[in-house]
Amino acid sequence: MEVLFRNIRGLYGIREAGIKKVSGKEMASFPGIENAWLLARDGRIADYGPMDCCPETTGETIDLRERFLLPAFVDSHTHIIYAGTREGEFKDRIKGLSYEEIAARGGGILNSARKLRESSEAQLLEAALRRVNEVIRLGTGALEMKSGYGLSVEAELKMLRVARKIAELTPIPVRSTFLGAHAVPGEFRKDRKAYLKLIIDEMLPRIAEEKLADYVDVFCEKNYFTPDESRQLFEAARQYGLRPKVHVNQFNSIGGLQAALEYNALSADHLEVLTDEDLESLAGHPDTMPVALPGCSFFLGIPYTPARKIIDAGLALAIASDYNPGSAPSGNISFLLSLACIRMKLLPEEALNAVTLNAAYALELEDELGSITRGKRAQFIITKAIPSLSYIPYHFAHNHIENVVINASLIL
Ligand code: NIG
Ligand code: FE
Repeated sequence: MEVLFRNIRGLYGIREAGIKKVSGKEMASFPGIENAWLLARDGRIADYGPMDCCPETTGETIDLRERFLLPAFVDSHTHIIYAGTREGEFKDRIKGLSYEEIAARGGGILNSARKLRESSEAQLLEAALRRVNEVIRLGTGALEMKSGYGLSVEAELKMLRVARKIAELTPIPVRSTFLGAHAVPGEFRKDRKAYLKLIIDEMLPRIAEEKLADYVDVFCEKNYFTPDESRQLFEAARQYGLRPKVHVNQFNSIGGLQAALEYNALSADHLEVLTDEDLESLAGHPDTMPVALPGCSFFLGIPYTPARKIIDAGLALAIASDYNPGSAPSGNISFLLSLACIRMKLLPEEALNAVTLNAAYALELEDELGSITRGKRAQFIITKAIPSLSYIPYHFAHNHIENVVINASLIL
């Protein structure tokens, strides 16, 4: 089955096969062809080129006049499975409490854990699926989702089973990450060692047996988990083939980044507080993708990840939503492009690379998605009639996406 997209005003994000990610100065280019065509065959990109040599097709033809066609976004870090919302804490923060102070009073992650434990698998699935469908319409063509609001064997398994159902029900690729080490639940407050043992001896083996997770994660932070506890977790997870994707350096630099790098983490996420030594550590491990979460910085009013410093040091950078009820209740990647440009001083091209190819790398999907490359999946964003690509982050908080293509089909 063929679909020909013709008269594309700009076909952007073009890369030769085999390019796994873009780093440093390369990030400033988001290559494209003006006035182009693209042919999809059997859900994959077959070929593309300039309109003066446009082929014929016996299949469907879609005329894009004035519209740009880009690779769909990849969201490599979400907590999209959750129960209830936390606008009460939002108001508390407006009145002056910090995220840490709210957590110390039993709010934060533990608040979501209480709500999640009371929700059935069916209720969780319905709510999460609604959010997933919403973000697909906003241009997301692949998604990671974490557990971490269960914090008991049964509730963590429940979350990961929901993730698996979503993977079956949605047309986009889904990866799941086990985040049992998100916070120490109340019942283990006086014996945190016992909670880590529960994660390692009971949760991990069951999750591995049911093949419920692709990666392992930890919130390595003061009052959450230490670098040494993180190492114990990574060591155990390694036996099950689960590679780390971690929450590190959100509020403090305590050595979590180095622990994750020792275990060849696929990505190191947050990094709002990044010392020169941390930057050097990252530079020594180019296989680990640094991931900034500007929606979280915006929403909590905390520093932004020093993305400029990371890219100027020659490193790669991905950007993800962190979609969750406490620190980033939005999965709108277009808005993150604006935040990346305005608050992190990225060029639009750098921001676009960060949410496409580099984000795909952070989910090991770079051979499938993240660029316009022959053989990759036909998952695209079709813009409205806009004057340029930079117009997307510039005209902030508007929806510039007219349609989304998933497996070569328009979804709207
Ligand atoms: O990535 N930092 C830890 N985890 C989430 C927040 C979770 C929550 O507040 O519910 C994050 O920001
Ligand atoms: Fe997160």
